[in-house]
Amino acid sequence: MAHGDVGLELGARVAGALRRGLGLEITPAEAVIRPSTREGVDYQCNAAMSLAKKIGKAPREVAEAIVAHLDSADLLEVPEVAGPGFINLRLRDEWLAGRVGALVGDTRLGVAPVEQPRRFALDYSSPNVAKEMHIGHLRSTIIGDALLRLLRFAGHEVVPHNHLGDWGTPFGMLIEHLVDEGHGADSGISDLNRFYQQARAKFDADPTFADRARARVVALQGGDEGTLTLWRALVEESTRHFQQAYELLGILLTPGDVYGESFYNPYLDTVIDELTAKGLTEISDGAVCVFPPGFTNREAEPLPLIVRKSDGGYGYAATDMATVRYWVTERGMTDLLYVVGTPQAQHFAMIFAASRQAGYLTEAQTSVHIGFGTILGEDGKTIRTRSGESVKLADLLAEAVEQAAKTVAERSSLDSDRQAEVARAVGIGAVKYADLSNDREKDYVFTWSRMMAKEGNTSVYLQYANARCQSVLRKAGTPRFGEVLVTDPAERALLVRLLQLPAAITAAVEGYAPHKLTGYLYDLASTFTTFYDSCPILRPDVPDEVRASRLALTKVTSDVLVLGLDLLGIEAPAEL
Ligand code: ARG
Repeated sequence: MAHGDVGLELGARVAGALRRGLGLEITPAEAVIRPSTREGVDYQCNAAMSLAKKIGKAPREVAEAIVAHLDSADLLEVPEVAGPGFINLRLRDEWLAGRVGALVGDTRLGVAPVEQPRRFALDYSSPNVAKEMHIGHLRSTIIGDALLRLLRFAGHEVVPHNHLGDWGTPFGMLIEHLVDEGHGADSGISDLNRFYQQARAKFDADPTFADRARARVVALQGGDEGTLTLWRALVEESTRHFQQAYELLGILLTPGDVYGESFYNPYLDTVIDELTAKGLTEISDGAVCVFPPGFTNREAEPLPLIVRKSDGGYGYAATDMATVRYWVTERGMTDLLYVVGTPQAQHFAMIFAASRQAGYLTEAQTSVHIGFGTILGEDGKTIRTRSGESVKLADLLAEAVEQAAKTVAERSSLDSDRQAEVARAVGIGAVKYADLSNDREKDYVFTWSRMMAKEGNTSVYLQYANARCQSVLRKAGTPRFGEVLVTDPAERALLVRLLQLPAAITAAVEGYAPHKLTGYLYDLASTFTTFYDSCPILRPDVPDEVRASRLALTKVTSDVLVLGLDLLGIEAPAEL
């Protein structure tokens, strides 16, 4: 049974009190109920301040009116007005115990599905064909995958799509290089970066090769069958390569989710026609452009969104206009999300503005660029290998698993096969968690020692906390979960924390901010550690009903950690 967010539930009571006491209407969210870290206080209501200003009363007077009319004796101790008009709220022990007791065996752990599900199209990962996926694509892949899991769990429909860079002028030189190399079993495409660099070098050094490459682009765009076959070989080899990375990372994307740039080719002419019919296009230096209002360069001149280049070709912007049109018009999606690095912020802002002008996006749709910063090395610069090249994803993950294997071997009693599996879960988890636990908008420094640490806000710490829960449950034999009791402050703190999962998930979903969930999980694991250190569970002198209650708490804590990590795409092995 899903109960939802305690803060909102309290907010609804406060709203009721305001209606009865002062004839004011507010929403539960407007009651501004926040968890409190004060001794003896679980939540604080901060609504009196802002409301007092609005209605010309003293904040304390408003707070006292709320308290006087609050109908909450079933769940709260007598509330207390503090300072200028805060209201301190403390949940009743019996109420807490009943709520947490209901979480035993609840697969949603109290998280109610959203009342109004929406239909999200989620663009993430989106690497480029014939280029190795590098650490820059790592963030899009990891953040996008966590958002996919979070949105789905919240109850929304989500269609992921991988906007593969599989079209455009570089394919001329890539295909010609493939022709030269021969595309047999070992064409050399498997080393994608080298293949790309070789093609590039030939293009720059050899004018006949460059001419062939240009002719190839024309043949490709003209739909020449032989050229398309070669192009497909490149796309397939790259897709295979990306799929391997997804599998290693435990990413949900499949080849069926690829909607590469080429997918939108059939729609490009229509887009230009529709934009033109709406009077939105202008010819500028031979190119067809849209000038969405509000975008200017340093000289205050309007910035163009080039939808058809002067040579007649279509580019990145035209494809993205067609992408918006497709997902809204053909697929009926209500929300378009793009998990792409912050340097493309202006591109997306212009695409969204032009799409609204064109009527592809209306008030019924939202469109959001979910940007993210870069990963920095410990020197504060873009992360590089020792020899100065950009870091390959595969190498980075291999290193993570290797380091995790050492950590696991230090104290594990597992056999070597199982140790290898656990090392993978720990190593990959650490890479993902380091990314997800940082506010995505910011750059972050990639520090092996910090992300692999057993203490602190890391996945390893959460995985150990869960393994500790699992070990207690194993030692208890067939554990008997009893009615939840409140016998100790550390135990009580754990109950309060367990009920904050719904709020953490809502915050992560609504802000497209996985770090709101990691922060919660870290707090939960710390609260559990304090509980575990001060509340014995299996010791023989613990009364049976207390043990049964503490085992139930241990079970729910483990369930929350496992669910939370799963929503981040991270495994939680039962033993480490
Ligand atoms: N392939 C692009 C890149 O690597 C990212 C594509 C993002 N999605 C989009 N619809 N433009 O930069």
